[in-house]
Amino acid sequence: MTTADDRLAQVRACVFDAYGTLFDVHSAVGAYKEEVGARHAELSAIWRIKQLEYTWLRSLMKSHTDFWQVTEQALDYALQALAIDNGDLKHKLMQAYLQLEAFPEVIDILSTLKKAGYKTAILTNGSPMMIESAVKSAGLDEFIDYQLSVEAVGIFKPNARVYQLAVDKLDIPADQICFQSSNAWDAAGAAHFGMKVVWVNRYTQPAENLPGTPTAELNDLSGLPALLGLH
Ligand code: LAC
Repeated sequence: MTTADDRLAQVRACVFDAYGTLFDVHSAVGAYKEEVGARHAELSAIWRIKQLEYTWLRSLMKSHTDFWQVTEQALDYALQALAIDNGDLKHKLMQAYLQLEAFPEVIDILSTLKKAGYKTAILTNGSPMMIESAVKSAGLDEFIDYQLSVEAVGIFKPNARVYQLAVDKLDIPADQICFQSSNAWDAAGAAHFGMKVVWVNRYTQPAENLPGTPTAELNDLSGLPALLGLH
């Protein structure tokens, strides 16, 4: 087999970040645009960035709680910041987070990788309950061999213990794992740890100035099979 990128020639497993990479986090607010009102995009953006900030802060503070609670606390902040106080909207948005849309190319790509014999996994901040629900709801179960949650190590990305979890569970060395993330800081974290990394730069953002350089960059996951030499 030839690979478009020689550095990916030894890859045996493809591990995916969940939120933002396989699942569109903005599809939760997107499902309730009318109810949220004119500032729906702002709400979704604040919700997401607060959610991530809280993971980093809790890891630094050594005060872990699971991603479901972090997601709820971030939503509380975002609703308050925009002075949105609408009955059961918060509950609806939290439920929508359990049924996020997968990006359009995801099923095709996962199915191609499985047919080609790669092991596949999700490695996510998400709690087991959250990720199981999102995977099932988007119909991805049959294409994912392992659903790995940071809850097994009790600290969030980009702590090295999280990436080590994939190495241990898959029993494959880091440099034979290709990790896909749209979150540039997560891509940097996995590269710094020693994985091969494809940064899925869905929103055409500049690279982060952090330790750890991704092996390759794509706009979405469509180009992954070609990068691995599959067609
Ligand atoms: C995750 C976050 C980083 O799924 O999106 O781990």
